Amino acid sequence: MKIVYASRTGNVQSLIEKLGVTDTIKIGDGVDSVSEDYIIFTYTDGYGEVPYEVDEFLKANSANLKGVVVSGSTSFGEAFCGAGDVIASEYNVPCLYKVEESGTDEDVEKIKELIK
Ligand SMILES: Cc1cc2nc3c(=O)[nH]c(=O)nc-3n(C[C@H](O)[C@H](O)[C@H](O)COP(=O)(O)O)c2cc1C
Repeated sequence: MKIVYASRTGNVQSLIEKLGVTDTIKIGDGVDSVSEDYIIFTYTDGYGEVPYEVDEFLKANSANLKGVVVSGSTSFGEAFCGAGDVIASEYNVPCLYKVEESGTDEDVEKIKELIK
């Protein structure tokens, strides 16, 4: 499965590296469309919000979106990983996994299973 991701401060980037996946597109690296099924990996911005660049990418590429994996920080309380819930509801796809920052080894193993 192709993975499209966004990372501002490196946590999602680090998670992607720990997963060992290679069929990836990083939003902002110049590719602005995807023509095959993919899962989006995103961080959470604002208070439970979808980052701007992710929102823009999804608006243009909703047809092949199959699910979302979301990173956040529990210090945001109820808004923890809120971007995943927003995307799931807006595009009617499952929020597959919520991860704190770049995830623990256990998270990484679980996500590997999910995206197989
Ligand atoms: C301005 C700002 C707002 C954030 N808002 C939230 C939030 O509402 N909910 C949440 O779970 N995490 C929030 N975070 C935490 C980030 O989503 C989290 O650190 C994430 O792992 C960052 O991923 P990245 O390093 O790949 O950019 C926020 C971080 C920043 C800097």
